[in-house]
Amino acid sequence: MASLMKETEKAEHYIQLEDKYGAHNYHPLPVVLERGEGVFLWDVDGKQYFDFLSAYSAVNQGHCHPKIINALIAQAQHLTLTSRAFHNNILGEYEAYISQYFGYDKVLPMNTGVEGGETAIKLARKWGYNVKGIAENEAKVIFVEGNFWGRTMAAISSSTDPSSYNGFGPFLPGFNIIPYNDLILLDAALQDKNVCAFMFEPIQGEAGVVVPDEGYIAGAKALCEKYRVLMIADEVQTGLCRTGKMLACDHENVKPDILILGKALSGGVMPVSAVLCNDEIMLTIKPGEHGSTYGGNPLACKVAIASLKVLKDEGLAENAAYLGEILRNELKAIKSEMIAEVRGKGLLNAIVIKPKNGKDAWDVCIALMHNGLLAKPTHGDIIRFAPPLVINEEQIMACVKIIKDTIATFE
Ligand SMILES: Cc1ncc(COP(=O)(O)O)c(C=O)c1O
Repeated sequence: MASLMKETEKAEHYIQLEDKYGAHNYHPLPVVLERGEGVFLWDVDGKQYFDFLSAYSAVNQGHCHPKIINALIAQAQHLTLTSRAFHNNILGEYEAYISQYFGYDKVLPMNTGVEGGETAIKLARKWGYNVKGIAENEAKVIFVEGNFWGRTMAAISSSTDPSSYNGFGPFLPGFNIIPYNDLILLDAALQDKNVCAFMFEPIQGEAGVVVPDEGYIAGAKALCEKYRVLMIADEVQTGLCRTGKMLACDHENVKPDILILGKALSGGVMPVSAVLCNDEIMLTIKPGEHGSTYGGNPLACKVAIASLKVLKDEGLAENAAYLGEILRNELKAIKSEMIAEVRGKGLLNAIVIKPKNGKDAWDVCIALMHNGLLAKPTHGDIIRFAPPLVINEEQIMACVKIIKDTIATFE
């Protein structure tokens, strides 16, 4: 049926199917994609686009990276899932690989980023009771305003975004929220003896690529140590080379007590997340107290090993640092009243759009889409620019031209 349709009708057909049979919990751009390779995506009508979102930084290694896809295919023909009721011959290899890669004693494998967050909080609470000596059910976790780590009940209970929590109460207790990028208020919050952890993003992704002052991450770590509180770094979006280092915490030479990874841990191939920490924390959780049917499945393990290898083999942190600098400088040089601010680190960047003649960030994204570049607004006025990290300088400059020409049409 679809092949007989005219081009625009074809896209419309798929959009209407989703509208009729799918929950209305997203508001996508009106583009229907069917293929991806490296930095490019193609829609059902064959039109090519630069991907400037990378599935919210899950596709750091580029779409359908051959080494990751080959690992997927090879393992899929062998063994995909055993559950954790039995051992398998791949899980231990992966656990050793990722633990040594990031320098922790152990890993707890999960699937999605939000499960990683849930896992980290459970570990921190357990450590709080068993090691720090907090009285039963009194443990607190400190979060910061503007955080985003998913939409489970725990995630929305720690959120300051009404669109995340409105209408979904009652919420989980034991979560305190303080302003981001404020070490004085963090110092005050951590003095409470019942605090077991401070959970934060080293750069806030969904909040609109909010970069804290230099020294914030190191300062926060020092305070956590002073008050014997665990630092949980949510590097689901910032980690795995996105900001120009393997981890965003590396910019300040900080090693969090608990590290959460997701998204690009599978190069966009399947949901794979991981929580890493040392034995003092990890071994507080005993058999039966946490887990997931699919967590650490052999397919995910092989995909994650391949994805981590690609990051180092292809120097993606260095590429992100180098091209990020170029991209920000070029964006800052655009003369337009519509661009109120350009910010970011590595290839995690954003521009803040000042609406003009009734046109806002959504209209800019629609125009960018027509001109062959896919990006998505967040919080109404911010557009994130986060291409796959395999992008090269020539492609970055081609994208800069698309952005410049698009913005010019609004003048
Ligand atoms: C920083 C951060 N943490 C956690 C998550 C949740 O990841 P997932 O959607 O895989 O559950 C996200 C998703 O955008 C995120 O940006």
